[in-house]
Amino acid sequence: MNSPHWWRDAVVYQIYPRSFADGDGDGIGDLAGVRARLPHLRDLGADAVWFTPWYRSPLADGGYDVADYRAIDPAFGTLAEAEALITEARELGLRTIVDVVPNHVSDQHAWFQEALTAGPGSPERERFWFREGRGENGELPPTDWTSSFQGGTWTRVPDGQWYLHLFAPQQPDLNWNHPDVRREHEDVLRFWFDRGAAGIRVDSATMLVKDPELGEIPQREGSPGAHPFMDRDGIHEIYRGWRRVADSYDEPRALVGEVWLADPGRMARYLRPDEMHTAFNFDFMTRPWEAGALRAAIRDTLATHAPVDAPATWVLSNHDITRPATRYGREETSFDFAAKRFGVTADLGLAQRRARAAALLTAALPGSVYVYQGDELGLPEVEDLPLDALKDPMYFRSGGTDPGRDGCRVPLPWTEAGSSFGFGPDGGAAPWLPQPEGWGAYSVQAQENDPGSMLSLYRSALALRRAEPALRGSELAWFDGTDEGDALVFTRGSGAQALVCAVNLGSKPLPLPPHSRVLLSSGPLDGTDLPPDTAVWLRP
Ligand code: NOJ
Repeated sequence: MNSPHWWRDAVVYQIYPRSFADGDGDGIGDLAGVRARLPHLRDLGADAVWFTPWYRSPLADGGYDVADYRAIDPAFGTLAEAEALITEARELGLRTIVDVVPNHVSDQHAWFQEALTAGPGSPERERFWFREGRGENGELPPTDWTSSFQGGTWTRVPDGQWYLHLFAPQQPDLNWNHPDVRREHEDVLRFWFDRGAAGIRVDSATMLVKDPELGEIPQREGSPGAHPFMDRDGIHEIYRGWRRVADSYDEPRALVGEVWLADPGRMARYLRPDEMHTAFNFDFMTRPWEAGALRAAIRDTLATHAPVDAPATWVLSNHDITRPATRYGREETSFDFAAKRFGVTADLGLAQRRARAAALLTAALPGSVYVYQGDELGLPEVEDLPLDALKDPMYFRSGGTDPGRDGCRVPLPWTEAGSSFGFGPDGGAAPWLPQPEGWGAYSVQAQENDPGSMLSLYRSALALRRAEPALRGSELAWFDGTDEGDALVFTRGSGAQALVCAVNLGSKPLPLPPHSRVLLSSGPLDGTDLPPDTAVWLRP
């Protein structure tokens, strides 16, 4: 992984620092905890680690409300610790990707506080979207847009003006037409790149540029680029500037975009050679556990990435998404934010088998792979958190109908026993979100010597992925006759080194494709048959 093109096929492990490991025993995960657990990531076979925001933040949205990009939140540690962590990780072969949240800042950020004090008409307010309201006395918000977190997108301040926030009120949107905003972000990039960060993950990457007219959202899908704040054409100039910053380093830094767009062609524009390197594959991630749907997602992904020569990414979940080890056991196995509700039942045994098969599927596809912390342990979504423990603004802003994202953010179990299952030191403060009883059965300790565990499967798959020349490069050939039906069967590589991946998403066993050897399977095989919800890697 010493290639400058490491990002093309890297395994990237996502750390949500608050929930990964608590070094100082205050119940909140921190950088000391991460440093002590880095060998877990090396043993897993990761190439890089993406940290969700670790900067100073009131944590109104789990750190996606940044008060100061150049400081680590005291709950997590210090800048010196972050620097040491980046160096230590690199010594173990792990590159670091930091999160940059350019669409908005925290309402505690110095710029926003200055804007509040300076008042209407001041240059300080120009860095944000302050506007007079509509209605006789300005009592109505400037637009009727709906927030990504439900509810409105404007909050009124005591002097009568309103400010824009596409997310929570604690996350005021920046005005990207302002030169300070552009300059500041390029400086922030350099700040972290100079400290050894190998790349950045760009939060809400399509939303930065707004139409200054602030018109209403077209009722029907308008022409691309016509939406008042989503995927406007002017956005690409920003990323071209960032790419120039990234390319100015001896080992060029990588840009990974959070680009949620339904139109794959519009998404590919962010991956042109002078823009971002890769973007998360949300199309694949949200699809149901069905052969046709996943086959189409894989085909479309490869077809849209090829013309811009960008590698695909394969993502099963992240800190915003219902865990696969629950979702795949529900009647509805696709993911949709709008459909999240309490009380949806799941067959956890089935979900676990499918999550295992999905892990082998994603690790066999061409491109990079993202593993969200805890998925390598098969953690289920925690769906019965006490309501008074919930922290996510998505829960609160939905009026309590959407359970929010806390269920996939429950602190990790490292040991079978102990007051927080090894998340923090024994006898330390209770974890910031309660862990369910029996959480220790999912722990690293419980799984690492069990050859049948999810952790062992991940370790074997990622070790093979690294060792097998067939799993490099961008080629994938579908097996003849598998254009339809319940199986996904494809070959990577050619000749004696080729590798076949077969996944059965149907309800009946299917004959295994011709092979000389079974390299790895996600579950027991049935003689020469591949049982339902099972994936296998074969040498032809
Ligand atoms: C996407 C992040 O993944 C999510 O956690 C956050 O709430 C929003 N962007 C807003 O920053």
